[in-house]
This record gives sequence, structure tokens and C-alpha cells, in this order.
Amino acid sequence: MPPTTAEERRRELIALYHEVRDCHRCPLGAVRTNAVFGMGNADADLMFVGEAPGAEEDRQGKPFVGRAGKLLDELLGRIGMERRRDAFIANVLKSRPPGNRNPEPEEIEACEPYLTRQIQLIEPAVICTLGNFATKLITGSPTGISRCCGKPQDRVVAGLPVTVYPLFHPAAALRTPAVLAQLREDFDRIPDLLHAAAERRTEQPDLALAGSGFPAGPSQLDLFGG
Ligand code: URA
Repeated sequence: MPPTTAEERRRELIALYHEVRDCHRCPLGAVRTNAVFGMGNADADLMFVGEAPGAEEDRQGKPFVGRAGKLLDELLGRIGMERRRDAFIANVLKSRPPGNRNPEPEEIEACEPYLTRQIQLIEPAVICTLGNFATKLITGSPTGISRCCGKPQDRVVAGLPVTVYPLFHPAAALRTPAVLAQLREDFDRIPDLLHAAAERRTEQPDLALAGSGFPAGPSQLDLFGG
């Protein structure tokens, strides 16, 4: 049964956090320091989905706290946003692959139900997928990030209508100046996409499926930062 009230959904998100923290669905559970559930504002219309925790994220239990995270914060700042207040940040994998290798298909499959549930509970209007792994998983398409970055797609994700906005991964932007320029340009369109999604929800209120969102008050889920 889907949760029917904001309080129920909030409780479910906290229960999910505890599940992820103790998860051993794949071998990464045995080698991580901390699971990285995600962090931010569970009421936010904007969600970012990255690939997997790196070394610093594994140490702190929080997403995007290394160099790529600093760039993400800088890009958010350019559009007048702040990660805790305006977005929820999660990853495809909740545990760090050793040596930051690519996620294996079995690891993605084992972790996918957590991301699906996060999306259902947070109900973002816009999901920015960062890099190839998040983009391919969320769009369900094999099209690589170089071909689809900066092109918003209206899709149903985890049963919800959302605008999926594929972006280059900030770590790739740190390596290649042309990628950074593209990421900056694409990032600057996020406010317009949020505005358009909000208008659509006002015109068709049934699009905001579970209704009222999380209760007012402290919705910055620092708990989910570790
Ligand atoms: N890269 C990611 O994809 N996610 C993180 O949390 C950190 C770096």
C-alpha cells in the first residue's frame, strides 16, 4: 500500500534510511565504511542522482562531499540554490565500489529498489541525472550522456511523472574543461525546468500524486547524511 499521509511518507523515508544503513544485498555492504543514503530537503522539487559514493563520501556517509561535490555546490550557487535547502541528492549505489571502479550490473540491480523508493517518497518534479550510470538507469535508455546531456525528457519514473534532465557528472567536468563549460550551461537551465514543472503541477494537480508533501518544519534530513 502506498503511504497516504505526509507523516507516513516521512516515517517510511526514515525506515528506508535504516534499511540502507544495514544493507548487505550485494558484496559492497561488507567493504564499505558507511552507506550513503542521500541528503537534502525531502520536500524539494529537485533531485540529483549521482553514480556511487567515493572515498570521502564513504568516510563521511554523505553524498558529494569531495571535489565533485564542491563543484556541484558551486553550480547550485550560480543558480541561487543550496543543496540542503533546495535539493535532495542521492546516488545509484549506496555503497562505494572499491577503488572507485564502475558499478557492476548486479550491484545496480540490488540497489535500484532503494532509489525507486526514494523517488516515490520525495516526489521530485525534476531529476538531474549526473553521468552515464544514473542517466541510463533513470531513463531506461542506453543513450550515453554525451548524446543526451542538457536535453530534458518527460518521463514516468518510479510511477511518477517527472522531467529527467541528464547532465555530465561533475567529476568528468573536473577532468575536461569543455565538459565543465557544457555542465555550467546546462545547469543554468534548471530554474526554468523547475518553473515549467511547477506550472504543470498547478494546471494538473493530479500530477503531484501523493499531494501535500512532507510536513512543514525541519525537512532537511541531516539524519540521512550519516
Ligand atoms: N560521485 C558520485 O557519483 N556520487 C557521490 O556521492 C560522490 C561522487
